[in-house]
Amino acid sequence: MAYDQHGRKIDYLRISVTDRCNLRCLYCMPEEGVAWKSHDDMLSFEEITRIVRVAATEGFSRIRLTGGEPLVRLGIIDLIREIACTPGIESVAMTTNGILLPKMAMELRSAGLSRVNISLDTLDPKQFAHITRWGNINDVFAGIDAALKMGFNPVKVNAVVVRSLNQDLLSFAKLSLDRPLHVRFIEYMPVGAPEGEAGLGWSAADTIPNEELIMLINEQAVSAGLGELKPVDSTKSVTGWGPARYYQFDNAAGSIGFISALSRHFCSECNRLRLTAEGKLRPCLFNDDEYDLKKALRTGGDEAARDCLREALGSKPDEHHGQIGTERLMSQIGG
Ligand code: GTP
Ligand code: 5AD
Ligand code: SF4
Repeated sequence: MAYDQHGRKIDYLRISVTDRCNLRCLYCMPEEGVAWKSHDDMLSFEEITRIVRVAATEGFSRIRLTGGEPLVRLGIIDLIREIACTPGIESVAMTTNGILLPKMAMELRSAGLSRVNISLDTLDPKQFAHITRWGNINDVFAGIDAALKMGFNPVKVNAVVVRSLNQDLLSFAKLSLDRPLHVRFIEYMPVGAPEGEAGLGWSAADTIPNEELIMLINEQAVSAGLGELKPVDSTKSVTGWGPARYYQFDNAAGSIGFISALSRHFCSECNRLRLTAEGKLRPCLFNDDEYDLKKALRTGGDEAARDCLREALGSKPDEHHGQIGTERLMSQIGG
């Protein structure tokens, strides 16, 4: 089992399989996209599979595939099949924008993917087209339906809350009432520019701290006759490896999660390493120190990869110490 030098058990690897995406969310990627990496700059699927095997022997048992948009990378189904049957890997999850789920959900499920988190920041078609720059919200709704129908469990919806977008929070919260959907509100983070600069237009005023958000939702819910949110009781806890705290309305089929990335950091519970599509290991989302796992693997094989993994683990900072900007865009880190 892998522990870092601060005594945290690290068993969750987030692997970005591509920095490309079929959308261009305002806070994630510039409209013109980013200079795509050449094939050789990216980890091949064979290399990712080897890394997962090495990581599994080091105590990693949970894998999340991220992007960009992981479903746009050709061959993703085969990769999932390989990872899911790697000895030591207990579960494979994915964070996706959901656009391709109607087409791919069945194959993903049979390849061994166990759950999906679907990004959706608004329920309004026009606002969705604005945030994603060209997306059609009906594709995501169909993606959510497909995920539920295929039996992914739990199915979560990730909504980044941006004050100036004035999203309809109550409608989002209501998504958790009738179907087993777990809606998570994420604090808007400055990713995509070093500290001090406004990454892709981020400003502190646009981040709504979770405590304020809970109050806002409760006010609206009480006016609508739903009552206040209550913490999900421990017997019904929502499967997850991340930092969300979950609440529920009475008799709701799903729940509401809050990810307080800025207002109340959860570094002491951190359990993950991140691997970028170009093969860099990132010990901390908010720290641009990276370890070149691709180079290690290509020059020194599995043993060098293992050393690199251990080195990255050993250097995981105890917390971000308020350094919350990044050189990389979110689409290049994978969330
Ligand atoms: P579950 O396993 O379902 O709990 O998922 P998760 O929350 O680990 O993964 P997901 O990709 O859905 O992440 C949701 C968002 O939470 C991320 O995109 C980030 O915005 C935020 N988040 C996750 N991990 C971290 C972290 O280590 N630090 C910070 N600051 N934010 C994080
Ligand atoms: N702040 C918070 N969350 C973000 N995401 C992307 N960019 C940001 C940001 N700046 C979310 C996406 C997706 C997850 C991987 O990260 O919406 O759900
Ligand atoms: Fe694509 Fe996700 Fe970034 Fe939106 S947040 S541009 S869907 S990678």
